[in-house]
Amino acid sequence: MSGARARVGVLVSGGGTNLQALLDAAADPTFPAEIVRVVTNVPGAYALTRAEAAGVATSTIPSKGVPREDFERALLADLGAVDWVCLAGFMRVLTPTFLGAFPGRVLNIHPALLPAFPGTHGPRQALEHGAVQAGATVHLVDAGVDTGPILAQGSVPVLDEDTEATLAARILGVEHRLYPMVLRWAAEGRITVEGRRAKVALRAGEARWITG
Ligand code: GRF
Repeated sequence: MSGARARVGVLVSGGGTNLQALLDAAADPTFPAEIVRVVTNVPGAYALTRAEAAGVATSTIPSKGVPREDFERALLADLGAVDWVCLAGFMRVLTPTFLGAFPGRVLNIHPALLPAFPGTHGPRQALEHGAVQAGATVHLVDAGVDTGPILAQGSVPVLDEDTEATLAARILGVEHRLYPMVLRWAAEGRITVEGRRAKVALRAGEARWITG
C-alpha cells in the first residue's frame, strides 16, 4: 500500500461486534484504513469498551430528546476530519445535515439482503416471510432507510429450526467478514456510483458477495 491510511470514524449504538471486526482488520498495519474515532449516541454502549481496548478515542453524544439537527451538528464537530464514516449498529437515521458533510462516504451494514427487509428486525422479517435465504448488506448511506447503493452482500440459509436469535447470529457471522472487505474497497478508492448502482474495481479472486 502506498500513502496514508484512510481515516475512519465509526458510529455505534450497541454491542459493537461489527466495530470489533473493523478494529481487528485495521490492527493490521497493511490494512488501508485506520479507525480513528468511535462515537456512540447511547451512554454506556459496550462498543465503547471495545474501542478503548483497541486504543481508539471514543465519545458519547446522547441523542435521546435532542433535536435531530443539534445532534448531528454535535456529531460532526466531534468526528472532525475523517475520510469515511462507518455505521455499525448505529440506531439513528441520519439526515442531509450530517450526510452532506460526507457525500458518498458513509457506509452501513444491514442484517438483510436489501432491498428486502429494510428497517429494524431484518432476521425476524426474513423468518416471518418464509425466506429460505437471509443475509447482510453493506451499502452507501443516503437519506432513506437502508436505501443507498448496494456494495456487497453475504447470504446464509434459513433453517426450519431457526429462531430469530439463531438466524441473527448466523447473519452476524457473514457481517463480520463483509464489512472489513468493503471498507478496504472504500479506503482504496475502488468504489464508484452511477445512479443507484455502485461499481467496485475488483481484483483477481474478489467478489461482491459471500456465503456463510
Ligand atoms: C448488526 O446486525 C448490524 O447489521 C445492524 O445492527 C447490528 C449491530 O450489531 N445494523 P453489533 O453492534 O455490530 O454487534
